[in-house]
Amino acid sequence: MSPQPGPGGLSGYAEHFVEPDGYLDFGRFGPPSTDVVETTAELTGQAARGDAGGVDELMTHELRARRAAARLLGAASADTIALLPNTSTGLFHAALGLPRGTVLVPEREFPSNLYPWRRAAALGRVRPVPLAADEQSRITPDVVRAALTTETVAVSLSAVDFRTGYRADLAGIREVIGPDRLLIVDAIQGLGATDLPWTAADVLVTGGQKWLRAGWSTGFLYASELAMERLEPILTGWSGVDDPYLYDGREHAPAPTALRFAMTNPSPIAAGALATALELVEHVGIDRIAAHIAQRTDELIDTVRSVGGLVLSPTSEHERAGIVAFTVPTADGAVVAKSLQEHGVSTTFRPDWIRLCAHASTTLATVDLVHRSLRSLPR
Ligand SMILES: Cc1ncc(COP(=O)(O)O)c(C=O)c1O
Repeated sequence: MSPQPGPGGLSGYAEHFVEPDGYLDFGRFGPPSTDVVETTAELTGQAARGDAGGVDELMTHELRARRAAARLLGAASADTIALLPNTSTGLFHAALGLPRGTVLVPEREFPSNLYPWRRAAALGRVRPVPLAADEQSRITPDVVRAALTTETVAVSLSAVDFRTGYRADLAGIREVIGPDRLLIVDAIQGLGATDLPWTAADVLVTGGQKWLRAGWSTGFLYASELAMERLEPILTGWSGVDDPYLYDGREHAPAPTALRFAMTNPSPIAAGALATALELVEHVGIDRIAAHIAQRTDELIDTVRSVGGLVLSPTSEHERAGIVAFTVPTADGAVVAKSLQEHGVSTTFRPDWIRLCAHASTTLATVDLVHRSLRSLPR
């Protein structure tokens, strides 16, 4: 059992970050650690110096990041990982790689998980079938089971829903779809905040800019053996093939590893940033990070409820990660959002909800700012 968090951020983790009290917008962007900032500056400096052998040395950060990603997922090796600049690129690899059949996609998914499937359908390849959530806005294994048909070749969903914060039961969904269909997971709202059975997925994609706190233009894709078998290398570019540095003008076979999911080489500077961010999560421990987030999330839920707010997210710990969406029935959302901002609280505001996202660097003082802001609303 981890000890109850005190009023500060998680010790050993929070010291690596400089965001002010009141920052609760991790579902949109997670301010990177000072280590990431240093790595980026160092590697950029190294690139600028142009030392002999410097480019080869910079390129070593790709394998460092792939290894750290594999460890975080509990994947067999770095061979299952390819670095990508964002989540969407990975979802396009998955969508365009499937030649036929249908894919179940929650109808209210974040759009990065909708467009690739629409584009694939327009090309006459796999077709998306919208999956409606249950009455509690959840995509449960039962919801998936009820929608499966003989044509279903894959299910593609977010590990943690960007809007409701619902945390999918990846192991349960894997079980209902069986070993022959692909489970495609957008992990960006969960990875770095919570621990899930990630390798239940066949394709897992993430950007590093939110809960992993690696900055923009970082991310990766994990591919299982089944994914390697089923996905055609439609977007595989020159660096994703055998002998990429043999410039003989001929077509080379796709790389035997997940490196085939590459259009070109990743930025070594982004790779270094991602590796540094992943190594911090590993060093501190995802369980401790998740426990701190759970505690602050409980406090935020209590705070919202104490002023008559309506929590739209699941409140039981096993159904959520770090996202709490809410409304205040007696106040216009724009007024609530303005008040939060005036009290120094950073959130995401959309017409029908406001999203609060605590991380392991979040202090009790931050929760207090939310409390003061919501208490100040006219009743
Ligand atoms: C569930 C989800 N997927 C993907 C993204 C972003 O995708 P990308 O990394 O391609 O910018 C977001 C948020 O921006 C998101 O909430």
